[in-house]
Amino acid sequence: MRIDILTLFPQAFQALVSFGIFQRSIDRKLISIDIHNIRDYTHDKHHTVDDYAYGGGAGMVLKPEPIFEAAESIKSDIPLEEGDGGLAIILLTPQGRLFSQQVALELSRYSHLILICGHYEGVDERVREHLITDEISIGDYVLSGGELAAMVVVDAVVRLLPGVLGSEASALDDSHTTGLLEYPQYTRPEVYRGWTVPEVLLSGDHARIARWRREQVIMRTLERRPELLDRASLSLEEKQLVSRLKQP
Ligand code: ADE
Repeated sequence: MRIDILTLFPQAFQALVSFGIFQRSIDRKLISIDIHNIRDYTHDKHHTVDDYAYGGGAGMVLKPEPIFEAAESIKSDIPLEEGDGGLAIILLTPQGRLFSQQVALELSRYSHLILICGHYEGVDERVREHLITDEISIGDYVLSGGELAAMVVVDAVVRLLPGVLGSEASALDDSHTTGLLEYPQYTRPEVYRGWTVPEVLLSGDHARIARWRREQVIMRTLERRPELLDRASLSLEEKQLVSRLKQP
């Protein structure tokens, strides 16, 4: 997968690309991540990227020209090939559709993502109307720019790509991939400050362990995110467990 990020703050992405799984995936050519400074696509002396809003109001608006030029220059760089997963051009904005594991999975099927980090009061509407194919929000709160949101999206998407994680199984078991939260994990020591590891995990009885874990998944989800259970596919036995647990 190729990922291009358009931003006014390229240095913000330094941490992302030097992070373990990204660096490894870049080295192994599973992904490429290129950061582009929107300011580099301006033509005036002051490298102007924003301007006052027509109609008045507080705050500046990102100008369309540098964003279009940056995206078009990236697009012309790599002609899409037949049978390719395609290109998504995504604006990170609090007005976008809400990001989730499901959306991450959807984006992981593209071969090329261009992420545009919004700033200030917003982006000229013509960018929305004529350039981007998707708008994503990472949550119902307002960040000072799209950079952190872009990093969240890239992290969640890249770890789903084949070969990125050590074991394919680890992404499949994740909280939210299954639609439910994960079971509790323990490692050595067996007793820490008097706190013991649940006996079942030491039993070596794989069927019992699997049953315990599934129960924990259900109990934990019911306790913390009950609304997720309504959408999950549960066996009859699991549904009975939920009803039992729901009883006061
Ligand atoms: N930019 C500012 N706030 C944001 C949010 N919640 N999600 C995505 N991009 C943003």
